[in-house]
Amino acid sequence: MTTLPAPPLAAVAQQLTGGGRGILAADESITTMSARLEQAGVPASATARRDYRALLLTADGLADRVSGIILCDETFGQDLADGRPFPVAARDLDLLPGIKVDTGTTALPGQAGALVTEGLDGLGARLASYAERGAAFAKWRAVFDVRTITPYAAHANGHALARYAALCQEHGIVPIVEPEVLCTGEHDLAASAQATRLALRSLFAALDAAGVDLTGIVLKPNFVTPGLDAAPAPADEVVVATFEVLRDTVPAAVPGIAFLSGGQPTEQVCDYLRALHARGDRPWSVTFSFGRALVSAALHTWAGAPATVADAQRVLLANCRSAADATR
Ligand code: 13P
Repeated sequence: MTTLPAPPLAAVAQQLTGGGRGILAADESITTMSARLEQAGVPASATARRDYRALLLTADGLADRVSGIILCDETFGQDLADGRPFPVAARDLDLLPGIKVDTGTTALPGQAGALVTEGLDGLGARLASYAERGAAFAKWRAVFDVRTITPYAAHANGHALARYAALCQEHGIVPIVEPEVLCTGEHDLAASAQATRLALRSLFAALDAAGVDLTGIVLKPNFVTPGLDAAPAPADEVVVATFEVLRDTVPAAVPGIAFLSGGQPTEQVCDYLRALHARGDRPWSVTFSFGRALVSAALHTWAGAPATVADAQRVLLANCRSAADATR
């Protein structure tokens, strides 16, 4: 049997973010996924987590709206009921399998509550294994709170993201680089813009210093919004603020930007995405890499009952359609 050569990183990054499709983020950690299952009335177990992710992956027609699915290590190593490993089934369904490879956050000493994301030790060997098992792309998430972000925290996280991204590219895997400024809190739009600008400037300085090929990455940022506990801003102000921050910080060589949803309502993030997509003066593709905005309603519809799988898949597909339509 001959093995086809892997497509270039730039082609994979374009496939993930172009063509009117986006990315389904289904990579919640075991702890987070277990808590969400329990909230939906499903006792948490490895089997429940697998059944739920299988429901998402096998929704009929998902690949019409979604180019890739991000999995966590547990799911990446699990099998569907028919015995196929998740990454194999994803490729069969015309979805690129991705893997979250960071191991979570820890406090940065001396930085008054700011966090840094860990997971670099042994990462090369893990990436080699994921690549062998079919991973096309990976994800690493840095987390910032507007109240605690400092230039040093932005620098430390940018450095880790850059080392991760360079290692991914060495293993033929497209890195999703995600510097998330959380939208929890009472901050205003300007505070979100300032924090996002700092995080992105530090990130791209670090990617440059690490020699990362920007044509072979996907950027996953937050929308620039007021905090969820603050007075909402009109959508056009959010879109202008988001666009201006990205225009000033993201080099044109980056092929695609895939936004996270941050726990904001599906309709709202789709509206932001549609308006950003409509801007003719952007050099990059824009699409979604939503988690909760796509899956929350489906999880609650399913609630662990085999009889509700088809309904839950319909709910998922409707959200994926809304998000994909915003990029067409
Ligand atoms: P949300 O869209 O739920 O914010 O999740 C996206 C994601 O993958 C965060 O890392």
